[in-house]
Amino acid sequence: MAENQDLMNKLMSLCKRRGFIFQSSEIYGGIGGFWDYGPLGVELKRNIKNSWWRDMVTGHDDTTKPPDAPSPYAMVGLDCSIIMHPQVWKVSGHYDLFHDMLVDCRTCKARFRADQLESSHSPELAEGQCPHKPSKRPGEHDACDLTPPREFNLMFKTNVGALVDPSSAAYLRPETAQGIFVNFRNVLDTTRVKPPFGIAQIGKSFRNEITPRHYTFRSREFEQMEIEFFCHPDQSPAWYTYWRNRRYAWYTALGLGSERLRLRDHSPQELSHYSCGTADIEYAFPFLTEGEFGELEGIAHRGDFDLRSHMQGKLVRQGDDFAVEQNEQGNPRYPGSGKDMRYFDDQTRERYVPHVVEPSAGADRATLAFLCEAYTEDMIPDNQGVPQSRLVMKLHPRLAPIKVAVFPLVKRDGMPELAQEIYRELKRHWNVFYDQSGSVGRRYRRQDESGTPFCVTVDSQTLTDGTVTVRDRDTTQQERVSIQELVTYVNAYLARH
Ligand code: GAP
Repeated sequence: MAENQDLMNKLMSLCKRRGFIFQSSEIYGGIGGFWDYGPLGVELKRNIKNSWWRDMVTGHDDTTKPPDAPSPYAMVGLDCSIIMHPQVWKVSGHYDLFHDMLVDCRTCKARFRADQLESSHSPELAEGQCPHKPSKRPGEHDACDLTPPREFNLMFKTNVGALVDPSSAAYLRPETAQGIFVNFRNVLDTTRVKPPFGIAQIGKSFRNEITPRHYTFRSREFEQMEIEFFCHPDQSPAWYTYWRNRRYAWYTALGLGSERLRLRDHSPQELSHYSCGTADIEYAFPFLTEGEFGELEGIAHRGDFDLRSHMQGKLVRQGDDFAVEQNEQGNPRYPGSGKDMRYFDDQTRERYVPHVVEPSAGADRATLAFLCEAYTEDMIPDNQGVPQSRLVMKLHPRLAPIKVAVFPLVKRDGMPELAQEIYRELKRHWNVFYDQSGSVGRRYRRQDESGTPFCVTVDSQTLTDGTVTVRDRDTTQQERVSIQELVTYVNAYLARH
């Protein structure tokens, strides 16, 4: 654990030093649970979101059955508003049920999540410390005076318009999923998709977490990458299996080591109020105790819960099924939209509410996992062949914030001019960085810490034969490549990964 924490501290220091992640509003002391992505971090996170969008949506072939899928399927995207009609959250169950149990200490005013105080198996238990005496757990110190647990809704509340009263109350979305469900009919009516098909969305979500922690892992503002996949109820178990495996493979293809990644099925007690089956993709983050894993993504079989709720009203479990929850007058407690969310299959003449499989990933948790995985300390020989320790971020080339750095060996003999020409040419294809200050060794090290796969150096030989050195980040091997071949060379490398 101490070793892991040491690794985490080193990673956080690198992220600050190189401009991956900053504390939000740092000059004012920061604000708990909010983070900013710096110049390198914004590129990394964007590359993760773009890879997800490309692999799941725009690069998806609607006409061909993927090897493990039950059939071909279509994918489309959406970008919905963060603030939605408040009825959405009443019907979805978030208004009543999206809460954590909160315990206050009357003495030190600290707040704790009740489950973290109760559970002796919680990965976050080590964080449940008495602020007066960190070696003790809350409640164990003589001065502790804990309140009984009470419900705390995690949705951020705001008001829409100039009047601040209950009628103008609205919420920042705690998940992007609901925007997709309420647009289900719009998508059906405006595109040619029919089940099975998926709707994808990437966007900000907000949760007023009681105990934001573990760097960006549990934040109050974060981004989700969600797919709601609509299919015939009979086919939903097969699609659930498909998405579990597909999403797991996405992380390994981008470099997460399978020994630190696992797929874990939820026990029945863990299932969300809507879910009839969920598996989590989890990563062994270094801030966790050895053997523990943290959630990266959940793949949930949501049945017809969401479309039915938005059609009929908020549902409650009744035995093995769900029924519309009623108020004292026998009317729906939170009425749905009344819009028909069923799909009519004109070939089979069947009308049904599609079932939903939902792969729901966190862009910030994925970014953190890729950063943790990339962090490497190794030894490389210096100019004299003496081994020197180095810090290198072995990010997958698709995710690397900068793909190529271009250097003139020295600031004379026309080398800077030629290097800038190459830089401008390469910049038409990727994010490229130009650097002419300091020794070339230091410039390499800077790029190693930024995760840049290639460094291109213009030297005296370039001026005579038109070749440059290309240094590979991981092996530190250098090759001479002609300037004309550079784009093909880098493209071939990216295509191999
Ligand atoms: N629509 C389903 C849903 O929102 P979730 O398990 O609550 O399910 C999905 O969230 C993903 O969103 C998580 O696997 C995680 O990656 C990310 N996530 C959830 N809460 C988060 C938080 N407080 N900070 C960062 N990421 C979070």
